[in-house]
Amino acid sequence: MGLKLETGARLVVATHNAGKARELAAILENRFTLVTAGELGLPEPEETETTFEGNALLKARAAARASGLVALADDSGLSVAALDGAPGIYSARWAGPGKDFGEAMAKVAARLEEAGAEDLSAWFSCALAVAWPDGPAVVVEGRLDGTLRFPPSGERGFGYDPIFVPAGFDISFGEMDPVKKDAMSHRALAFAKLKAALF
Ligand code: IMP
Repeated sequence: MGLKLETGARLVVATHNAGKARELAAILENRFTLVTAGELGLPEPEETETTFEGNALLKARAAARASGLVALADDSGLSVAALDGAPGIYSARWAGPGKDFGEAMAKVAARLEEAGAEDLSAWFSCALAVAWPDGPAVVVEGRLDGTLRFPPSGERGFGYDPIFVPAGFDISFGEMDPVKKDAMSHRALAFAKLKAALF
C-alpha cells in the first residue's frame, strides 16, 4: 500500500461547489480527473468535529467510503486570538443562512469590542485531507498569520478578506490582487504540504 497518487487517477472532491472543484483541480495542476461529491450525488456529512483537520478528514472519509474512490476534502476558516480562536470552524456559520459576511465581520468587531480586546492577531487556517476507500488518509494544515483591521476594506476576495491584513503587508486581502493572495494563502500553504506528502 502506498499513500501516493498516480497521475490520471480519478479523485472525488468532497464539495458540492463546482467552483471550488475547479480551483482545486488547478492547484493540483490538473494531474487528476476530478469528480465532485455533488456530481456523484453523495450526501454531505454533518461537520461534527472540533478542528479544521478533523472536519476535513471526516468529509474526505465519508466521500471515499460512499464512492469507492480516493477523496479530497478541505475545511478552512478565520481564528481570532482575543476570541479564543472563534469563529474558527464556525467561520461559514457566523455568516448565517444568507452567507452574509458583512454580518459575520460586524459580529467579529462586536465581540472584540465586548471583550475590550487590544490584541487583533488572527490567522486563516486550511486543512486538506485525502482519504482512500480502504482506510488510510493523509491530513495537513496551512496557517497564515495576520492582524484584523476595521472597518472592512477592499472589494476583492471573499468571506473575511476585507478585515484581514496578512503579516508583513499593510493592505487587506480584500484589497490584494487575488493572484498574489492565492500564492501566499493558507490554502496555498496547505497544498504545498499536501503535494510534499503525496507526490
Ligand atoms: P468551509 O468552506 O466550510 O471550509 O468554510 C470556510 C469559511 O471560512 C468560508 O466561508 C469563509 O468565511 C472563511 N474563509 C476561509 N478561507 C478564507 C479566505 O481565504 N478568505 C476569507 N475567508 C475565508
